[in-house]
Amino acid sequence: MFSARVLLIFFGIATVFLTSGTDARQIRKKELHARQLEAAKRWQPSAPVRRAAPKNITFSNPRASEFFVDGKSIPEVDFDVGPSWSGLLPISGNKNETRKLFFWFFPPGPQGSLDDLIFWTNGGPGCSSLEGLLQENGPFSWSWGQAKPTPNEFSWTNLSSVLWVEQPVGTGFSQGTPNIKNEDDLAAQLVGFMQQFLEVFSELKNKKLYVSGESYAGTYVPYIANYIYEHPGALELDLQGIWIADPSLSWDVVQTQIPAVDFVHKYENVFSFNQTFMAQLDKIAATCNYANYTKQHLTYPPTGLLPLPGKSTSADRGCDVWDMIFDAALLVNPAFNIYRIFDTFPILWDVLGFPGSFPQEQISPLYFDRADVKKVIHAPANVQWDECSNVNVFPHGDASLPSALSVLPNVIQKSQRTVIVHGLADFILIAEGTRIVIQNMTWNGLQGFQTPIANDSFIVDGVGSLGTSHSERGLTFFEVELSGHMIPQFSPKAAFQTMQYLMGFRQNP
Ligand SMILES: *[C@@H]1O[C@H](CO)[C@@H](O)[C@H](O)[C@H]1NC(C)=O
Ligand SMILES: *[C@@H]1O[C@H](CO)[C@@H](O)[C@H](O)[C@H]1NC(C)=O
Ligand SMILES: *[C@@H]1O[C@H](CO)[C@@H](O)[C@H](O)[C@H]1NC(C)=O
Ligand SMILES: *[C@@H]1O[C@H](CO)[C@@H](O)[C@H](O)[C@H]1NC(C)=O
Ligand SMILES: *[C@@H]1O[C@H](CO)[C@@H](O)[C@H](O)[C@H]1NC(C)=O
Ligand SMILES: *[C@@H]1O[C@H](CO)[C@@H](O)[C@H](O)[C@H]1NC(C)=O
Ligand SMILES: *[C@@H]1O[C@H](CO)[C@@H](O)[C@H](O)[C@H]1NC(C)=O
Repeated sequence: MFSARVLLIFFGIATVFLTSGTDARQIRKKELHARQLEAAKRWQPSAPVRRAAPKNITFSNPRASEFFVDGKSIPEVDFDVGPSWSGLLPISGNKNETRKLFFWFFPPGPQGSLDDLIFWTNGGPGCSSLEGLLQENGPFSWSWGQAKPTPNEFSWTNLSSVLWVEQPVGTGFSQGTPNIKNEDDLAAQLVGFMQQFLEVFSELKNKKLYVSGESYAGTYVPYIANYIYEHPGALELDLQGIWIADPSLSWDVVQTQIPAVDFVHKYENVFSFNQTFMAQLDKIAATCNYANYTKQHLTYPPTGLLPLPGKSTSADRGCDVWDMIFDAALLVNPAFNIYRIFDTFPILWDVLGFPGSFPQEQISPLYFDRADVKKVIHAPANVQWDECSNVNVFPHGDASLPSALSVLPNVIQKSQRTVIVHGLADFILIAEGTRIVIQNMTWNGLQGFQTPIANDSFIVDGVGSLGTSHSERGLTFFEVELSGHMIPQFSPKAAFQTMQYLMGFRQNP
């Protein structure tokens, strides 16, 4: 009886939807779809991305064919992704070498450049770059909530060749026992791998190289670039610059704690905290010297080195507001995603098993753990693939200083261009904290940016303002509105445009 009545009401409403012509609540499929298509046009790639590539890449070393992947044979991908090469290669030429890294190389698409090579790594430490390939900047995309893979209009292969590498040892399909103590060890092993890679794919030697990555790769990438600059001749590639997104660059207290309460105020309606809790946060922020920190110290130009707010480089006792905010956010929104604060229930499914703040396996096995996938990409069948490894890739921790306090200035000085991008909806690392890091860093003879970052200064082609951009002395900083931590995933057009700028394919940021 009850269900019959519900059914009746349902049909009643449906009738209203179908007959009334002006009701705003009406489902007007065709008209809504037309609006959607109109809006989507603005976000389409502005082709051609670059001049047409003169010819396809072929590799003369017969070993290259061991790594060939037929783009028509990738499981669940119902279109031709084109030729690519993937598999394991050792980190040195020693006969007894047991440590190997897994890579997947794609040549440029029809409009990409043959003169360039982009290297990509994810962070973690210990997270797989195949996440980047499948969900961020690869030629096919199977992201959260998608029923099947789709072509990625903003694939970085539209710019040039791209090499995704699972590194360091201990990550993804890589082989061997991790033994690195710091970032220089990591860079040395990666360069060792690259030497082996260039032996097999020697046609790529002397290409212009761009090293890119996100998150903890904000530590990896500057150290890798620094190692390459400081060991001339070690790598037969011509390093031009780096691109790092939502990067881990400095102390936790700077990138997570100082800006956390300001961030909550900016997005008060998203967090939806109660007034008592907001007052408690404000009180702690005042006690811990976070409250007016940016007002006092984040000036353009800076007036001196920026102080820590207290004694600790992570958080003084009673000052860990970041964790308080995370816990409180999870109370009101169990789907709260530190990587993109706008997410709410339900949590989207993810073929890689990591759709938000927490790993969540709604399918088994994960895509890269499937036997058929492993076979096609020449991955070891006996490795259980995980997006972020359970193995500690730095067995005794990472002894290196944060990159902004060590090698990053040298890398900026030696590079043609350096790009730092930060999503404004990222809570795990907060854009305002990256501003503090930049203002406390000295490169090319001066400390920080000398003039303020202007609002609405990042203009995305065909779209308009989508955040800020600011360049001084070889460093360009972008902030992207509405983007979470993984910018190529959440704002692919913005990521693509910033990468075009890095590579000199466009003059203005
Ligand atoms: C490049 O390879 C594709 C197939 O992979 C082929 O269709 C195309 O004609 C080739 N182009 C040139 C210039 O060789
Ligand atoms: C492997 O061989 C190299 C020399 O080719 C040697 O220096 C190294 O110690 C050896 N490593 C192991 C683990 O045996
Ligand atoms: C970029 O690459 C994707 C995937 O290969 C392709 O579908 C798209 O047409 C390309 N876009 C441009 C502008 O070349
Ligand atoms: C922060 O600055 C405002 C005005 O500039 C002032 O009213 C407030 O008391 C300051 N808060 C703290 C904790 O210093
Ligand atoms: C600023 O840089 C100095 C010198 O490297 C460092 O001691 C200090 O901790 C930094 N301050 C912040 C807020 O990171
Ligand atoms: C307010 O939020 C805090 C932090 O999440 C929580 O502990 C407290 O119970 C909340 N108060 C009310 C009345 O919901
Ligand atoms: C930029 O916008 C913010 C608010 O979004 C505002 O507080 C700030 O004053 C603006 N800056 C400038 C230089 O206009």
